[in-house]
Amino acid sequence: MFDSAKIRSDFPVTGLTFPVIGKPDPQPLIYMDHGASTHAPQPVIEKYQKFLSSYYANVHRGHHHLSIMSTDLFDQVSEIILDFIHGDPSENCIMYTQNTTMALDMAGHMVEHLSGVTLTTLLEHHSNDLPHRARGKVVHVGATEDGTLDYADLERKLRAYHVKLVAVTGCSNVTGYYPEIHKIARLAHEHGAYILVDAAQLLAHNSIDVRPNDHPEHIDFLAAAGHKAYAPMGSGFLFGPKKVFDAAPPYMPGGGTVKYVTAEDVFFDKSPDRHQGGTPNIAGAIAVGAALHYLKDIGMDHVREHERELTDFAIGKLTAIPGLTLYGPKTAATKSGVLTFTIDGVYHELAATILNYEYAIATRNGCFCAHPLLHHLLKVTPEESALLRDQLVKGEAAKIPGAIRATIGLYNTREEIEVLAEALSVIAARQWRGNYTEKQDTDLCRTSYYEFTI
Ligand SMILES: Cc1ncc(COP(=O)(O)O)c(C=O)c1O
Repeated sequence: MFDSAKIRSDFPVTGLTFPVIGKPDPQPLIYMDHGASTHAPQPVIEKYQKFLSSYYANVHRGHHHLSIMSTDLFDQVSEIILDFIHGDPSENCIMYTQNTTMALDMAGHMVEHLSGVTLTTLLEHHSNDLPHRARGKVVHVGATEDGTLDYADLERKLRAYHVKLVAVTGCSNVTGYYPEIHKIARLAHEHGAYILVDAAQLLAHNSIDVRPNDHPEHIDFLAAAGHKAYAPMGSGFLFGPKKVFDAAPPYMPGGGTVKYVTAEDVFFDKSPDRHQGGTPNIAGAIAVGAALHYLKDIGMDHVREHERELTDFAIGKLTAIPGLTLYGPKTAATKSGVLTFTIDGVYHELAATILNYEYAIATRNGCFCAHPLLHHLLKVTPEESALLRDQLVKGEAAKIPGAIRATIGLYNTREEIEVLAEALSVIAARQWRGNYTEKQDTDLCRTSYYEFTI
């Protein structure tokens, strides 16, 4: 059962307050930037601290107490992750990375030597696009008007090209839309391709079942990171098949990747060690294990149900605000709690600034590292896009098109969403309290509103 009060009390961040314009007392932080990074609950913080204070040592090649304990804890994390995503440990393994980007890059590396193109989509975060572009030909599957996947285009492109990898998001970081990853897996396999799922926005919000390796809907590779799943920053992972990992050249050759080396000869180890040169983020990986334990104890079905209810509530509130446009599906049945919107006549950066300084609401704004999708949703014309490019190349300040994003997490409440909706109504009616001065930031080539007077 989902005890929201108990869960909220597990997160020290929920006790923070900040001063706001127009109120005498500091106001509680309303954190709705879970899509960027989530905070750790107390049990995860404690596990992390315990490692630093009582088990801290390097893993695998030490025969002293601390190294044995540290190795034991570290090795359990792979089992925890495999269990969480239902991966078969006899055929697959977990590769540790710094973040999701590195995990996606590593997946691209594993298939780089194979012939064929990589099919990715217009929905992707740059991290599931640019690493593939750096490794060979990439073809993009289109998006529908509201940012969902164009399945007909996917099928067309699977037929038209010799595809080795379909790289698709498990949940859009812009609209929250959940592509049907198992349907895509089936299509990819029918055309002889592997599937890579970017699970950055999925891991902490919906249950994942990669299914058995011989299942037609098996997910071959899955990438995610702890900092979006209630663990600290600095630790991510790639799930994938040992046989593919073992056939690829080492990703980062170095200490820990070999069985035998002479000045002339190197005999590399099997995966996962084969690819992971140097000391991993041991504390971070242990914290990821603790965070997945925490989520599993709550139950991912309960997490999803809680966030689905809040998301539907938020969609109802936000779509009722005159002048506000919400992007993506209008029902939580096919999306997560990622809510991206624009407000007529109010620049996204100004709206996010007002939410912060007048309501202590933490959101994110801009293009969310998904320029192609944002330009598509905002209907940026090719001429506008070319002008923007020109300004940025010349280093001129530019009004970058974008939106505001509020993302729901485990400890958000209906009351917080009511405050968000109230704040957005005020902003849409242009009745905010402060005076905000537009600043051209030529270093970042963008407009910001960090100076204000009451
Ligand atoms: C869908 C998606 N993929 C990839 C990334 C990159 O994640 P990381 O910062 O862990 O590299 C993000 C980050 O926001 C994301 O939302």
